[in-house]
Amino acid sequence: MATITTDSSGILSEGRADQREQVIALLKKAYWMEIETVMSYIANSVNPDGVRAQEIKESLEEDIQEELGHAQQFAERIKELYGVVPGSEEFAAEQSFLQPPDQQTDVVHIVRGVIEAETGAIEHYTRIIEATDQIDPVTQDMVIDILRDEQGHRRLFEGFLREYEAEGLA
Ligand SMILES: [Fe+2]
Ligand SMILES: [Fe+2]
Repeated sequence: MATITTDSSGILSEGRADQREQVIALLKKAYWMEIETVMSYIANSVNPDGVRAQEIKESLEEDIQEELGHAQQFAERIKELYGVVPGSEEFAAEQSFLQPPDQQTDVVHIVRGVIEAETGAIEHYTRIIEATDQIDPVTQDMVIDILRDEQGHRRLFEGFLREYEAEGLA
C-alpha cells in the first residue's frame, strides 16, 4: 500500500519547490498586468472629453478598484507560496494599445484598448488555471474568480463597441 508522507502539504511541500517557482512566475506576470491596467485605467478615466466619454470614464473608474484588488490578491498569493512580491524596478510596460489617443474625444480607441487589455488578462489567467490544475487548487480557485471579473469587464466594453459600430462610429 502506498503511503504519502512527503507530499502532505501539497504545493507548499518541500519537494515541490520547482512547481511553486513556476506558479510564482505566472503570478508575478499577472501582478504586473494588473498594476499596468490600474495605470492605464486611471489615465483613461480622466483624459477623455465629450458626452460619449462620460460612461466610459465612470466605468473605468469603477474598474480601477477591482484591478487594484486583483493586484493585491496576486501579491498575497506570491507570498503564501514563499515568493517575494517584485519591486517597481522589475516593471516593464506592455500596454502600447492603451496609451492616450491623439484626440481626447477618441473614445473608440480607449474601448478597443480596454478590450485588448482584458483579452490579455483572460488569456494569461486561463493559462494559470490550466497550469495549476491538480497542482495548486487554491491559486486556481482564486484565479477562476478573477477571470470571471475580467470576462465581465470585456463583455461590458464589447457592448460599448457594439453600440459605436451600430451608430457607424467605429
Ligand atoms: Fe484584473
Ligand atoms: Fe479587468
